[in-house]
Amino acid sequence: MTLRRFVFKSQFDGLPKHSDFELVEEPIREPAPNEVVLEALYLSVDPYMRVFARNVPTGGTMFGTQVAKVTKSKHPGYKEGDLVVGHLGWASHSVVNPDQVKSFGGEVAKPYILPDLGGVSPSTGLGVLGMPGNTAWFGLTKLCQPKPGETLVVTGAAGAVGSLVGQIGKILGLKVIGFAGTDEKVQWLEDDLKFDRAFNYKTVSVTEALKEAAPEGVDCYFDNVGGEMSSDVMNQMNTYGRVAVCGSISAYNATTPVLAPIVQPTIITKQLTLTGFVSSRWKDCWFEGIQQMLHFIQEDKLVVRESIVEGFEKMPDAFISLFTGDNTGKVVVKA
Ligand SMILES: NC(=O)c1ccc[n+]([C@@H]2O[C@H](COP(=O)([O-])OP(=O)(O)OC[C@H]3O[C@@H](n4cnc5c(N)ncnc54)[C@H](OP(=O)(O)O)[C@@H]3O)[C@@H](O)[C@H]2O)c1
Repeated sequence: MTLRRFVFKSQFDGLPKHSDFELVEEPIREPAPNEVVLEALYLSVDPYMRVFARNVPTGGTMFGTQVAKVTKSKHPGYKEGDLVVGHLGWASHSVVNPDQVKSFGGEVAKPYILPDLGGVSPSTGLGVLGMPGNTAWFGLTKLCQPKPGETLVVTGAAGAVGSLVGQIGKILGLKVIGFAGTDEKVQWLEDDLKFDRAFNYKTVSVTEALKEAAPEGVDCYFDNVGGEMSSDVMNQMNTYGRVAVCGSISAYNATTPVLAPIVQPTIITKQLTLTGFVSSRWKDCWFEGIQQMLHFIQEDKLVVRESIVEGFEKMPDAFISLFTGDNTGKVVVKA
């Protein structure tokens, strides 16, 4: 038996390229005491990989999370057939001591056994029932502190996080306005996800769109993209508005600093609160977030969409698609 893994071969320069990765194949060794053999079922590609790769040395397995099946276990905490979520990288199989698995940041991050999802696909452990779901749930509720009747704007609205943020906003009784990059995505947001309004940021003025769709002003802004769009949204916010600064994908591939209109006068005069965050700050209540999102699914309150890419060898294509906007919902690679 052999495993395949993608080696992170060269630091990204602009848009990631296939040549930044190398696919290698090697035998799978037998597990030592306290080790397990894991077979990847679903692998995640996420925008953060583009950002944090600069802190990771080249030459090793590309980092990332996956849902994997335990195929052999010499560890008392795991048995054959268990499904786990862990930082196992872009590898088809892994032989690891779970107690020593580390995240890309270098902290020990023991793979966790996927909770009972009641028949929902295990792939969602990388999306709505995993990191992106918790990012949306905690980011919106804890940082935007929305109240029923308020107006929420979300950018990157048709993506893994954004599509959930908007739907949670509707569940919480907000008026929700989304921005996404194609007319098809806009139609999906309005027709299927029941956003109050959605706009293609590539073909409209964000300022004019908000003046028309939110004349009452914006109270909560879940910012997935940063840059000029964010400045435009903040300029339409109400006094004491709250901004959850989740991502700035508009600048991830930039090779020179990205300039955007200054927002400090708006932040000051409107007394806005901007909070940057990474989802791991809610690691102590991680499973509560998953259960909450699972309840929403079971109550038919959430439309969950995945862009499933078939084939482990397509990992780079799936990753690159995040930056070309080809995905709708969560991108997952099925090994
Ligand atoms: N803070 C955290 O803990 C945390 C956790 C998860 C994600 N994030 C961040 O949240 C954001 C969304 O992540 P995700 O996993 O949900 O990805 P995603 O939205 O599913 O995929 C990325 C999307 O970003 C949009 N995009 C790409 N380039 C863009 C550009 N130059 N300007 C505007 N939009 C662009 C594309 O959609 P369009 O067609 O609409 O352009 C693309 O589909 C990212 O910034 C990510 O880094 C942060």
